Amino acid sequence: MTIGEVARRSGVASSALRFYEERGLIQSERTGSGHRRFRREVLRRIAFIVFAQRVGLTLAEITQELDRLPPGHTPSRRDWALLSSTWAARIDDRIGELERLKAGLTECIGCGCLSLDRCKLANPGDRAAGLGPGPRYWIGDRPLARRG
Ligand code: FES
Repeated sequence: MTIGEVARRSGVASSALRFYEERGLIQSERTGSGHRRFRREVLRRIAFIVFAQRVGLTLAEITQELDRLPPGHTPSRRDWALLSSTWAARIDDRIGELERLKAGLTECIGCGCLSLDRCKLANPGDRAAGLGPGPRYWIGDRPLARRG
């Protein structure tokens, strides 16, 4: 398949496919004129990459996972099942994050209180930075109590 055909079928932009290839996540062969040609099996690999990113895996983690697939032949159903079996905890974490996000948004829409004790939007003086990087209250840390 050409890169355009793979992009259309997978829904992933050609630029992203080239990036995946540079990172070694997918492989193509070159025609005599230097154009990329992909084997049809690459579509399953791309689907895996897209899903893994949605679950929250980094590209480095995805590379590690894909390296577990047997080289030299098309991965079987059993091979794919082996990869996904390690994801249950990751997916549970993600579900927890999304549930907290949903609960927080539901609470704040139309509320407007910006309560320092309970609101996940309130972060005066960026106190949340003291808890570490990222959106600390959204990922489950409790807002710091007002001081003084
Ligand atoms: S605005 Fe009231 S809880 Fe967030």
